[in-house]
Amino acid sequence: MEKRSIAISLPCTGDDEWQATREPLTTGWLTQGPKVAAFEKAFAERHGVSHALATTSCTTGLHLILVAMGIGPGDEVIVPAFTWVATANVVVYCGATPVFADVDRATCNIDPADVARRITPRTKAVIAVHLFGLCADMDALRAVLPPEVPIIEDAACAAGAAYKGVPAGALGLAAAFSFHPRKSITTGEGGMVTTNDDALADVANMLRNHGASISEEQRHKGPRPYLLPEFNLLGYNYRMTDLQGAVGLVQLQKLDRFIAEREQWAAFYRDALAGLGWLCMPQLPAEGGRHAWQAFVTYVDPETAPLPRNEIMARLQERGISTRPGTHAVHLLGYYRERYGIRPDDYPGARDCDANTMAIPLHNRMSKEDYEYVVRCLREIAD
Ligand SMILES: Cc1ncc(COP(=O)(O)O)c(C=O)c1O
Repeated sequence: MEKRSIAISLPCTGDDEWQATREPLTTGWLTQGPKVAAFEKAFAERHGVSHALATTSCTTGLHLILVAMGIGPGDEVIVPAFTWVATANVVVYCGATPVFADVDRATCNIDPADVARRITPRTKAVIAVHLFGLCADMDALRAVLPPEVPIIEDAACAAGAAYKGVPAGALGLAAAFSFHPRKSITTGEGGMVTTNDDALADVANMLRNHGASISEEQRHKGPRPYLLPEFNLLGYNYRMTDLQGAVGLVQLQKLDRFIAEREQWAAFYRDALAGLGWLCMPQLPAEGGRHAWQAFVTYVDPETAPLPRNEIMARLQERGISTRPGTHAVHLLGYYRERYGIRPDDYPGARDCDANTMAIPLHNRMSKEDYEYVVRCLREIAD
């Protein structure tokens, strides 16, 4: 029997990225410096925002945003129940309460109607996740929120995505992106905060560097490099290294090519798998939108599928094809279940997405033969 080995995701890095690290390694400027600044400038331009601030991860980026907004004990932040755990964790880091809202099974994104039911006078923000690269329905979300409640974008999966012609990262008060190797572009670990709010950017900039009033680069280039700056805020060390900045700059130049290739193969999967009624295809964006295809996440219909989802995943694994659940329902995870006393059925959409979603391989290091093999194996499961 034919057997290939196909990873769920592989970072697309190589000699260009390797060469880019030579300069910081040679000059000795390794922490946040000129390469990070160049990466930030290019990222801000690509995403149509006035500020981009590199961080150690999307998680720390989201944390910075919430702290910069002054979110703390007594405050509530609404987050989708189906997302990576970090989206909720950052709220807990601030001493605030994560309030889950259910998701729409078709898009896996936050359901604005359920958000409307969760708003209280303590609601200080909503974190809208653009899961797998498909932007949340920002207009519908805005319509149910009081004007004083801002939307923060968890754009971990959404570099290069767009909603009604506007890039992800420019859709809310602020956004955070991830450069973890499972994302379309990577710096190993890493993140980026984007915003058009000057004051928020200013505070987040200080917070990521221990609360220092100026960065090391500014201090070294300034007239008195021998004096340490003021520290008027309780900050963190969430700085990206210049090695990562150099890699990120190269990766960003490839982002649109990566997405274009992913779009092409996502369309191939959609056509080739259309006949399998039990395997629902991921939703496409509304007019003017762009899906970033961080992952190709299907939904196995439990009523009509020939086998349970986990059995299908096991069969594909036997044939060398890696799959994963789309992500997890955070309200089902032990920490949240126990701390907040949440039951699985409180969020039926998230519960079902947890049980039935299946990401199949889609990345920039797969060949035509790999895609055809995945389709063939999926069809054979149905035979
Ligand atoms: C939706 C979402 N939010 C947040 C994160 C956290 O990103 P990072 O690993 O860069 O902290 C991820 C990572 O997988 C994610 O998928």
